[in-house]
Amino acid sequence: MTGLKQKLYEKIEAHRPRIKRLLDEHGETVINSVTVQQVIGGMRGIKSLVTDISYLDPYEGIRYRGYTLDEVFQKLPKPPGAEMPYVEGLFYLLLTGDIPTKEEVDEVIYDSVNRRQLPRYVYEVIDAFPNQSHPMVILSAAVMSMQRESVFNLKYARGLNKIDFWDPTYEDAMNLVSKIPVIGAYIYNKLYRKTKYVYQDPTLDFGGNFASMIDIDKPYDDVARMYFILHADHESGNVSAHTGHLIASSLSDVYYSISGMINGLAGPLHGLANQEVLRWIQDVRLRFGDKVPSKDQMQKFVMETLDSGQVIPGYGHAVLRKTDPRYSIQRDFCIKHLPDDDLFKYADILYQVVPDILLEQGKAKNPWPNVDAQSGVIQWHYGLVQYDYYTVLFSIGRALGVLSNIIWDRALGYPIERPKSITTDMLEQMVGIKK
Ligand SMILES: CC(C)(COP(=O)(O)OP(=O)(O)OC[C@H]1O[C@@H](n2cnc3c(N)ncnc32)[C@H](O)[C@@H]1OP(=O)(O)O)[C@@H](O)C(=O)NCCC(=O)NCCS
Repeated sequence: MTGLKQKLYEKIEAHRPRIKRLLDEHGETVINSVTVQQVIGGMRGIKSLVTDISYLDPYEGIRYRGYTLDEVFQKLPKPPGAEMPYVEGLFYLLLTGDIPTKEEVDEVIYDSVNRRQLPRYVYEVIDAFPNQSHPMVILSAAVMSMQRESVFNLKYARGLNKIDFWDPTYEDAMNLVSKIPVIGAYIYNKLYRKTKYVYQDPTLDFGGNFASMIDIDKPYDDVARMYFILHADHESGNVSAHTGHLIASSLSDVYYSISGMINGLAGPLHGLANQEVLRWIQDVRLRFGDKVPSKDQMQKFVMETLDSGQVIPGYGHAVLRKTDPRYSIQRDFCIKHLPDDDLFKYADILYQVVPDILLEQGKAKNPWPNVDAQSGVIQWHYGLVQYDYYTVLFSIGRALGVLSNIIWDRALGYPIERPKSITTDMLEQMVGIKK
């Protein structure tokens, strides 16, 4: 057993009695009341999921295992000479709640490198797609195609005690975490580099190897590390995390779950917003003929988008009520590394005009930018200009958090998810509209 798996086992054993006590002694305690608005309005804000891996405060933003993002970036070990930490270190933190030492990270990297090889048929599945297919479709199908590799599925079929469900789930998760960057890189190379070749470097970590596989020079390895870490988790209620959790709750294995997670992330109100931001900024660019627009011009453009009944991509959030710290971290990165980049200037003018406009319009509960408002600008700067691909990067990062959650769901014996629906008639009767 690796050090990570051993530590995880100890953490699980220590945590199980806490859940048992909550259920035994407080199972009937009421913690929520639910309004009609919440029932019709996408269950917004109803506290009905438990995770210790991350928590999203509306005003502070996300914390991973109790650490702010700034703390995560500061405390996790980094590769020699790198500005950003090891992604493998983040995975260790998400799983165990502990900041790993460099030696502990090295062991995870060693284990992960040995799991990176893709079965031959995965390449064939990817190759079978026409180049016009959206990369998220290909990613979802490629992950799904590996379902036959599931260790959980095999062990379950042979008869597996509930108490041990987490163990083969951990093996599946480690396998998928190690393989999904390779799948992503192969999709990128096939679609945009017209090369059906992925050079993996076993001496490199998650971020370094990803940059090497798609052949983008330094400091893109650091960009990749930052990107995967920033997108890893956003507590459990968002569409991608919730979908992954929901599917896994029926004991479907992680391949089904992560494929579903990817499908949820592919919507423009969720992960695809990063692509939409870049597409929209290109429209601005076309309009102003490559000249950086003034604030007035940008205001007009924003108003045109709103007047045509569209949302401003990269702004607003279902939980956050301030500028997303994931946005701020990327903005700081841009100020440091690409202050003169034209697209960064566009994004910054948007930051100056969009919140006021949304506030004045009075509809959006959160007028501030989210993670997607800035992320494509950085990718574009380093040569990854195929914005259809940006949500694949998001997916690779998000898999880290969702897989960590699924292992813990299994460890704590969370049951199959099954909320209750009612009819409109019933709702009208409950509030006294109908007898
Ligand atoms: C993220 C998002 C889906 C959250 O949705 P939500 O929780 O329903 O947001 P709100 O409660 O603030 O929505 C209230 C109204 O404001 C609108 N609104 C919210 N964000 C908006 C935006 N960025 N631009 C224009 N209108 C927006 C909503 O469409 C809604 O309009 P409606 O009453 O006509 O249906 C929403 O803010 C959005 O569509 N943002 C743009 C897409 C995006 O960046 N997604 C990535 C999120 S990380």
